[in-house]
Amino acid sequence: MEIKMTLKPERERNSDSIKNAESLSFGKLRSDHMFLMNYEGGVWKDARIVPYGPVEVMPGAVALHYGKSVFEGAKAFRHEDGEIYTFRFEENAKRMNHSLSTLCMPEIPVDIQMEATLKLLDVERDWCPAQPESSLYIRPFVFGTEDALGMEPSATYTYCIMLSPSGAYYPGGFKNTVRLLITDRFHRAVSGGTGSAKCCGNYGQAFRAAKLSKTYGAKQVLYLDSSNTYIEEVGAMNHFHITKDKTIVIPEFTDSILKSITSISVMELAKSLGYEVRQERIRINDFIEQVKSGDIIEAGGFGTAAVITPVCEYIFENNEVITVGDCTIGENIRKIYDAYTAIQTGDAEDKFGWLTKVPRG
Ligand code: PLP
Ligand code: COI
Repeated sequence: MEIKMTLKPERERNSDSIKNAESLSFGKLRSDHMFLMNYEGGVWKDARIVPYGPVEVMPGAVALHYGKSVFEGAKAFRHEDGEIYTFRFEENAKRMNHSLSTLCMPEIPVDIQMEATLKLLDVERDWCPAQPESSLYIRPFVFGTEDALGMEPSATYTYCIMLSPSGAYYPGGFKNTVRLLITDRFHRAVSGGTGSAKCCGNYGQAFRAAKLSKTYGAKQVLYLDSSNTYIEEVGAMNHFHITKDKTIVIPEFTDSILKSITSISVMELAKSLGYEVRQERIRINDFIEQVKSGDIIEAGGFGTAAVITPVCEYIFENNEVITVGDCTIGENIRKIYDAYTAIQTGDAEDKFGWLTKVPRG
């Protein structure tokens, strides 16, 4: 693919701010450039890298009215050799296509998504931070741009990749545990809906429940399925727990759960560390009972942004709180977190072949 480059002059680029920062927040900063490509007449075309800035859309654009918009979240890491490595981006590209087809939007060949991302990362390599728990967060997204108010799939789309030098998703990073709200009044997704796609609507509708969770001192909501029987996932992470016989249990990937790349990676890694790993439908009542009885000793969430976030408390709308173990970061979560992040940062051998070095030039 030919990628046209319109780059800022060197003197206008300034990534020094990230080098000097003690720690970085999540998702606030931008790098100098973004990748853009348009879909028109049935083909993706005009691949280009341009300075990061406003993208013009018509007020009648389908994305603004009917949520025709999907996105991905991935990370690139700076290793000690000074090179930049992406983590399993191909999986993100495949999931992007799953989301696109779920929303009746045109897919983008995985190799094109990969090439675009690697090229942008090459141009922006100075923006990849080196602080602990930091990364260059990659946010590809596609939105419908046709100026049409009829409920028809858009005839035109824009694919954009933007980059955000970022620190930990939850302020303070891995040293903190979080509390989750369990509610039976709000649901993230339903069977037959779009839960397994990373589409904007899933997130937009979740703000109401997330706002409620804050009033309970919780960071997010642990959603149940629409019959309030089974555990589904958290607003921005899959959920897991570890039993006292050291089995890691993750809810089965139904069509209302996003298939987390962190979850599938940790499952593979944990097996190699000697853990049993199981995916099943988990009844919320069984979960509560097992937390109370001590059969469940650790729990948390898996996600690109959230990495592995330990959860120590669950609160219900009647203010009842249940606590996992002694509310500290458990030894198993710590062991898995260390092994996982060591691969990402290049401190351990990449024996699963998860990393791709960003080529120079
Ligand atoms: N579930 C939801 C709803 C998410 O938004 C995310 C974040 O991407 C995840 C799970 C974790 O998925 P991944 O590990 O691929 O980032
Ligand atoms: C990610 O983990 O990459 C996500 O997309 C979650 C987002 C809500 C920050």
